[in-house]
Amino acid sequence: MKVNWPERVWVNSPVRRYVQRQESLFFSRAGKLAPGGKCLEIGCGCGAGARLIGRYFAPTEIHALDLDVEMLHAARKNGARWNGLPLQLLAADAQELPYPDGTFDAVFNFGIIHHLENWRKGVTEIVRVLKDDGVFFFEEIYPPLYANPLFRRILDHPREDRFDGPDFRAALAAAGLRLLDGYKESRFAILGIAVVGAKNFSPLQ
Ligand SMILES: C[S@@+](CC[C@H](N)C(=O)[O-])C[C@H]1O[C@@H](n2cnc3c(N)ncnc32)[C@H](O)[C@@H]1O
Repeated sequence: MKVNWPERVWVNSPVRRYVQRQESLFFSRAGKLAPGGKCLEIGCGCGAGARLIGRYFAPTEIHALDLDVEMLHAARKNGARWNGLPLQLLAADAQELPYPDGTFDAVFNFGIIHHLENWRKGVTEIVRVLKDDGVFFFEEIYPPLYANPLFRRILDHPREDRFDGPDFRAALAAAGLRLLDGYKESRFAILGIAVVGAKNFSPLQ
Protein backbone atom coordinates (compact mmCIF):
# COMPACT_ATOMS: atom_id res chain seq x y z
CA MET A 1 0.00 0.00 0.00
CA LYS A 2 1.36 3.43 -0.99
CA VAL A 3 2.13 5.93 1.75
CA ASN A 4 -0.17 8.96 2.20
CA TRP A 5 1.11 12.53 2.22
CA PRO A 6 1.96 12.83 5.96
CA GLU A 7 4.04 9.67 5.76
CA ARG A 8 5.65 10.88 2.53
CA VAL A 9 6.77 14.00 4.42
CA TRP A 10 8.17 11.76 7.20
CA VAL A 11 10.05 9.34 4.91
CA ASN A 12 11.60 12.25 3.03
CA SER A 13 12.62 14.14 6.18
CA PRO A 14 16.15 14.71 7.55
CA VAL A 15 15.14 12.85 10.74
CA ARG A 16 14.26 9.74 8.71
CA ARG A 17 17.60 10.07 6.88
CA TYR A 18 19.43 10.19 10.22
CA VAL A 19 17.59 7.11 11.52
CA GLN A 20 18.26 5.21 8.30
CA ARG A 21 21.96 6.10 8.45
CA GLN A 22 22.21 4.74 12.01
CA GLU A 23 20.43 1.56 10.93
CA SER A 24 22.78 1.11 7.97
CA LEU A 25 25.76 1.56 10.31
CA PHE A 26 24.31 -1.16 12.54
CA PHE A 27 23.96 -3.46 9.51
CA SER A 28 27.48 -2.73 8.30
CA ARG A 29 29.01 -3.56 11.71
CA ALA A 30 27.87 -7.18 11.24
CA GLY A 31 30.39 -7.59 8.41
CA LYS A 32 30.92 -7.14 4.70
CA LEU A 33 29.26 -8.89 1.79
CA ALA A 34 31.54 -10.88 -0.51
CA PRO A 35 32.92 -8.69 -3.35
CA GLY A 36 30.74 -8.51 -6.45
CA GLY A 37 27.51 -8.66 -4.47
CA LYS A 38 24.08 -8.03 -5.91
CA CYS A 39 21.61 -6.28 -3.58
CA LEU A 40 17.88 -5.57 -3.64
CA GLU A 41 16.03 -2.92 -1.67
CA ILE A 42 12.26 -3.35 -1.47
CA GLY A 43 10.10 -0.23 -1.05
CA CYS A 44 13.03 2.09 -1.75
CA GLY A 45 11.03 5.33 -1.50
CA CYS A 46 13.15 8.29 -2.58
CA GLY A 47 16.29 6.12 -2.85
CA ALA A 48 18.16 7.16 0.30
CA GLY A 49 18.44 3.52 1.43
CA ALA A 50 20.01 2.49 -1.89
CA ARG A 51 22.58 5.21 -1.48
CA LEU A 52 23.46 3.94 2.02
CA ILE A 53 23.70 0.37 0.70
CA GLY A 54 26.15 1.68 -1.90
CA ARG A 55 28.16 3.51 0.74
CA TYR A 56 28.38 0.71 3.34
CA PHE A 57 28.37 -2.45 1.20
CA ALA A 58 29.73 -1.34 -2.20
CA PRO A 59 27.84 -4.01 -4.17
CA THR A 60 28.28 -4.43 -7.92
CA GLU A 61 24.53 -3.98 -8.50
CA ILE A 62 21.77 -2.37 -6.46
CA HIS A 63 18.19 -3.04 -7.55
CA ALA A 64 15.67 -0.82 -5.79
CA LEU A 65 11.93 -1.13 -6.30
CA ASP A 66 8.81 0.63 -5.18
CA LEU A 67 5.10 0.37 -5.95
CA ASP A 68 4.75 4.15 -6.10
CA VAL A 69 6.02 5.75 -9.31
CA GLU A 70 6.13 9.19 -7.66
CA MET A 71 8.64 7.82 -5.14
CA LEU A 72 10.65 6.39 -8.02
CA HIS A 73 10.64 9.78 -9.80
CA ALA A 74 12.12 11.32 -6.64
CA ALA A 75 14.68 8.49 -6.45
CA ARG A 76 15.60 9.04 -10.10
CA LYS A 77 16.04 12.78 -9.52
CA ASN A 78 18.17 12.13 -6.44
CA GLY A 79 20.14 9.42 -8.26
CA ALA A 80 21.58 11.98 -10.65
CA ARG A 81 23.56 13.32 -7.66
CA TRP A 82 24.86 9.87 -6.69
CA ASN A 83 27.74 9.56 -9.06
CA GLY A 84 28.67 6.02 -9.93
CA LEU A 85 26.02 4.27 -7.83
CA PRO A 86 25.23 1.03 -9.75
CA LEU A 87 21.50 1.57 -9.21
CA GLN A 88 18.59 0.11 -11.17
CA LEU A 89 15.14 1.40 -10.19
CA LEU A 90 11.99 -0.53 -10.91
CA ALA A 91 8.25 -0.11 -10.34
CA ALA A 92 7.13 -3.41 -8.81
CA ASP A 93 5.20 -5.02 -5.97
CA ALA A 94 7.29 -6.51 -3.16
CA GLN A 95 4.67 -9.26 -2.86
CA GLU A 96 5.45 -10.48 -6.42
CA LEU A 97 9.16 -9.86 -6.94
CA PRO A 98 10.02 -9.84 -10.65
CA TYR A 99 13.29 -11.78 -10.25
CA PRO A 100 14.25 -15.43 -10.62
CA ASP A 101 14.95 -17.57 -7.55
CA GLY A 102 18.36 -17.09 -5.95
CA THR A 103 19.21 -13.76 -7.62
CA PHE A 104 20.52 -11.65 -4.70
CA ASP A 105 23.28 -11.78 -2.10
CA ALA A 106 21.35 -9.40 0.13
CA VAL A 107 17.87 -7.92 0.44
CA PHE A 108 17.22 -4.75 2.45
CA ASN A 109 13.89 -3.76 4.03
CA PHE A 110 13.81 -0.28 5.53
CA GLY A 111 10.35 -0.36 7.09
CA ILE A 112 8.10 -1.50 4.27
CA ILE A 113 6.84 -4.99 5.11
CA HIS A 114 4.16 -3.54 7.40
CA HIS A 115 2.83 -1.79 4.26
CA LEU A 116 2.17 -5.12 2.55
CA GLU A 117 -1.39 -6.48 2.69
CA ASN A 118 0.08 -9.99 2.46
CA TRP A 119 3.22 -9.47 4.52
CA ARG A 120 3.90 -13.23 4.83
CA LYS A 121 4.09 -13.45 1.04
CA GLY A 122 6.54 -10.53 1.14
CA VAL A 123 8.79 -12.51 3.51
CA THR A 124 8.67 -15.68 1.38
CA GLU A 125 9.39 -13.65 -1.75
CA ILE A 126 12.51 -12.22 -0.11
CA VAL A 127 13.74 -15.72 0.73
CA ARG A 128 12.94 -16.94 -2.79
CA VAL A 129 15.11 -14.27 -4.46
CA LEU A 130 18.00 -14.66 -2.00
CA LYS A 131 20.92 -16.97 -2.84
CA ASP A 132 21.51 -20.02 -0.60
CA ASP A 133 23.95 -17.98 1.49
CA GLY A 134 21.96 -14.75 1.21
CA VAL A 135 21.42 -12.12 3.90
CA PHE A 136 18.30 -10.18 4.85
CA PHE A 137 18.81 -6.79 6.53
CA PHE A 138 15.66 -5.34 8.02
CA GLU A 139 14.04 -2.61 10.04
CA GLU A 140 10.38 -3.25 10.76
CA ILE A 141 7.76 -1.56 12.91
CA TYR A 142 4.74 -2.93 14.79
CA PRO A 143 1.15 -1.70 15.32
CA PRO A 144 1.74 -0.03 18.73
CA LEU A 145 3.89 2.45 16.79
CA TYR A 146 2.03 2.99 13.49
CA ALA A 147 -1.54 2.02 14.46
CA ASN A 148 -1.93 3.60 17.89
CA PRO A 149 -4.99 5.87 18.26
CA LEU A 150 -3.03 8.97 17.14
CA PHE A 151 -1.09 7.58 14.17
CA ARG A 152 -4.05 5.52 12.99
CA ARG A 153 -5.79 8.84 12.25
CA ILE A 154 -2.83 10.32 10.41
CA LEU A 155 -1.25 7.40 8.55
CA ASP A 156 -2.58 4.83 6.10
CA HIS A 157 -1.69 1.17 6.57
CA PRO A 158 -3.30 -2.19 5.89
CA ARG A 159 -5.35 -3.19 8.95
CA GLU A 160 -5.93 -6.92 8.56
CA ASP A 161 -3.52 -9.63 9.71
CA ARG A 162 -0.88 -7.33 11.22
CA PHE A 163 2.21 -8.60 12.99
CA ASP A 164 4.21 -8.01 16.15
CA GLY A 165 7.68 -9.22 17.15
CA PRO A 166 6.89 -12.89 17.80
CA ASP A 167 4.80 -13.09 14.59
CA PHE A 168 7.56 -11.53 12.52
CA ARG A 169 10.31 -13.72 13.98
CA ALA A 170 8.13 -16.81 13.49
CA ALA A 171 7.51 -15.88 9.84
CA LEU A 172 11.25 -15.44 9.23
CA ALA A 173 11.93 -18.87 10.76
CA ALA A 174 9.09 -20.50 8.82
CA ALA A 175 10.50 -19.05 5.59
CA GLY A 176 13.93 -20.55 6.35
CA LEU A 177 15.70 -17.49 7.75
CA ARG A 178 17.87 -17.58 10.87
CA LEU A 179 18.16 -14.39 12.91
CA LEU A 180 21.75 -13.43 13.75
CA ASP A 181 22.58 -12.54 17.36
CA GLY A 182 22.53 -8.89 18.32
CA TYR A 183 19.18 -7.90 16.84
CA LYS A 184 17.30 -5.12 18.64
CA GLU A 185 13.64 -5.37 19.41
CA SER A 186 11.07 -3.43 21.45
CA ARG A 187 7.28 -3.61 21.40
CA PHE A 188 7.39 -0.95 18.66
CA ALA A 189 10.08 -2.12 16.25
CA ILE A 190 12.82 -4.56 15.31
CA LEU A 191 16.20 -4.05 13.67
CA GLY A 192 18.10 -7.14 12.63
CA ILE A 193 19.88 -9.37 10.18
CA ALA A 194 18.81 -12.85 9.13
CA VAL A 195 20.55 -15.39 6.94
CA VAL A 196 19.27 -18.21 4.79
CA GLY A 197 19.78 -21.70 6.21
CA ALA A 198 19.77 -23.22 9.65
CA LYS A 199 23.51 -23.89 9.95
CA ASN A 200 25.47 -21.94 12.54
CA PHE A 201 27.24 -19.88 9.91
CA SER A 202 27.15 -16.29 8.70
CA PRO A 203 28.06 -15.39 5.11
CA LEU A 204 29.10 -11.92 6.29
CA GLN A 205 32.88 -11.55 6.29
C1 LIG B 1 7.36 3.76 5.01
S1 LIG B 1 7.89 3.98 3.35
C2 LIG B 1 9.64 3.62 3.53
C3 LIG B 1 10.45 4.21 2.41
C4 LIG B 1 11.96 3.99 2.57
N1 LIG B 1 12.26 2.56 2.55
C5 LIG B 1 12.46 4.63 3.84
O1 LIG B 1 12.84 3.91 4.76
O2 LIG B 1 12.46 5.85 3.93
C6 LIG B 1 7.26 2.55 2.57
C7 LIG B 1 7.62 2.47 1.09
O3 LIG B 1 7.19 1.22 0.60
C8 LIG B 1 6.51 1.40 -0.62
N2 LIG B 1 5.56 0.29 -0.78
C9 LIG B 1 4.39 0.10 -0.14
N3 LIG B 1 3.81 -1.04 -0.55
C10 LIG B 1 4.66 -1.59 -1.45
C11 LIG B 1 4.62 -2.79 -2.23
N4 LIG B 1 3.58 -3.62 -2.16
N5 LIG B 1 5.65 -3.04 -3.05
C12 LIG B 1 6.71 -2.18 -3.14
N6 LIG B 1 6.79 -1.04 -2.45
C13 LIG B 1 5.78 -0.74 -1.60
C14 LIG B 1 5.85 2.75 -0.49
O4 LIG B 1 5.51 3.29 -1.76
C15 LIG B 1 6.93 3.53 0.24
O5 LIG B 1 7.86 4.10 -0.65
